[in-house]
Amino acid sequence: MRIFGFQEYGGPEVVQHLDVPRPQSRAHHLLIEMRAAGINPADIKVRNGARQNKFPVKFPMAVGREAAGVVLEAPADSPFQPGQLVFGGTATGTGALAEFVLLDASQTAPIPAGLSPSQAACIPVAFGTAWDALHELNLAKGSTLLVLGAGGGVGSAAVQLAQSLDLNVVGVASSQKEEFLTNMGAKHVAYDRGDWLAQLALSSDTYAGIIDAAGGDTLRATSSLVPTGAIRSAASPALAEEYGGSGIRRRREGEIYKQLAEMMANDVIHANITHSYPLDNASLALAAVETGHARGKTVVTNV
Ligand SMILES: NC(=O)c1ccc[n+]([C@@H]2O[C@H](COP(=O)([O-])OP(=O)(O)OC[C@H]3O[C@@H](n4cnc5c(N)ncnc54)[C@H](OP(=O)(O)O)[C@@H]3O)[C@@H](O)[C@H]2O)c1
Repeated sequence: MRIFGFQEYGGPEVVQHLDVPRPQSRAHHLLIEMRAAGINPADIKVRNGARQNKFPVKFPMAVGREAAGVVLEAPADSPFQPGQLVFGGTATGTGALAEFVLLDASQTAPIPAGLSPSQAACIPVAFGTAWDALHELNLAKGSTLLVLGAGGGVGSAAVQLAQSLDLNVVGVASSQKEEFLTNMGAKHVAYDRGDWLAQLALSSDTYAGIIDAAGGDTLRATSSLVPTGAIRSAASPALAEEYGGSGIRRRREGEIYKQLAEMMANDVIHANITHSYPLDNASLALAAVETGHARGKTVVTNV
């Protein structure tokens, strides 16, 4: 089968279209024919070799860790059937940008009517992370959440999911993302304008918590706005710990993905796919995410 993958760690040049054997069935896993895969900054960190201690790679490996498609083989003791449309997280040591993909059955959910494979493929990483962070923070209804990096994958998911939990949201993003954030119902503060910290002070009397998808100086400048401990950072877990917060403990459960897919099918949340490329042009999808200034989500399709 064809994959867009890598046989050594490195920059964009190490990722190529390769012909490799189909993945072998494993207990507690599903084999799917891939229809769509979500692209995330973590895919670039894995390719660069920056995740070697945390994310096992078996060369040659396809890029990507979330995919949607048609079930070809499913474990007899799973609720899934051949022919069904599903989405989820890839099996350990395998990737998503491939004609055939192995999904971990415990991280898989059905695609409900009304949701496309591309939309569903955006759920496990960005929406799953934002959901886990919100449930860890457990903020009171009516309080205000500050989202850093609010225009990207995790940030735009957090903005929408927070409002579904009756939180107010102020989002920090570049000035180019003002309309995107206000259309999602958030107040927008542009970090690339000189007075942004003053604007943050004007945007809410108090902030109950931070979900951070930007890290670095943006987190440093805002950490004192929230009570100690009320920071969950996807981008800079170690820095969040310095301020009494933490990274996000990922649950990666099919049941959570199922709930998020139903919310998306019911228009409560939106995938906000900005870039969609066929597998032939998957390098463009990775390049779009590698800019570090993504708007919503980027997907690769295989139809
Ligand atoms: N722990 C986990 O399980 C987990 C899960 C998912 C993601 N992550 C990590 O979390 C980070 C974000 O992921 P993502 O998927 O949201 O990435 P993304 O889609 O690339 O979005 C990042 C966003 O940050 C914005 N940004 C860049 N510089 C900024 C700054 N100085 N201040 C505020 N915003 C800034 C970017 O656009 P603008 O500059 O135009 O605003 C972009 O929208 C990555 O490091 C990723 O690896 C961790």
